[in-house]
Amino acid sequence: MNTAFAQHKKLTGNHKLVCLSLAIFAASTLSGCRVERQPNYEWLPWLNPMMMFSSAAETNTVNTIFKNKLTNQVPPEGTIPRDFTPLHFTADDAGRTAAGEQLINPFEADDATLKRGKVVFETFCVPCHGTTGAGDGLVAKRGMPGFPIGAPENNAAKWPDGYLFHIVTYGRNVMPSYATQIKQEDRWKAILYLRTLQQSAKPAAKP
Ligand code: HEC
Repeated sequence: MNTAFAQHKKLTGNHKLVCLSLAIFAASTLSGCRVERQPNYEWLPWLNPMMMFSSAAETNTVNTIFKNKLTNQVPPEGTIPRDFTPLHFTADDAGRTAAGEQLINPFEADDATLKRGKVVFETFCVPCHGTTGAGDGLVAKRGMPGFPIGAPENNAAKWPDGYLFHIVTYGRNVMPSYATQIKQEDRWKAILYLRTLQQSAKPAAKP
């Protein structure tokens, strides 16, 4: 008796499942019955040119959307790009000192950061400062001062990250500014990589 009852229950369960799948199948099939060339009713048709059929303009093109007919618009005054921290330092000794005191490197010297820092350093700094920061890059060999920054006794090893960030951002004397070529986060990462060079360099023998 017990087993028969159990079997009955099981059947009912299966039956329900079959009905449900049939219903889902029917619903999904019927909902697909729509002739594309005769679209369904539109909800708020007067809004749709804006919401659904907006005319996308390609970048660097001329279009009729804006008054000056250019797709690339100048950002509204006072806006700043995402991930960009505006700096308010002056490009002189005072500004450098202030940056050294106020700015903190937002990155930790983990593997990923140092890996990126190495790429940035080797792309932008090595031509003058050399692979180890000894000031013996190719440009330095051809006459421009290369300035050693990669050894523990160099000034660069004693200054805080913010101070170096200021030098890379604003430049100093013959060293040009890298603000437009290296984005902020990469500048910080290059500095962390430079720190590893300074730590691994052997101090020069004392005279
Ligand atoms: C075009 C060559 C050149 C490149 C490229 C260059 N530098 Fe320099 N850098 C210099 C020169 C020259 C000086 C010395 C400037 C001066 O006399 O004030 C200097 C100075 C420095 C100093 C200060 C050193 C000190 O003891 O006063 C730091 C730190 C520094 N550079 C870091 C970097 C970093 C980091 C990069 C890469 C993002 C870089 N530099 C790329 C030429 C360069």
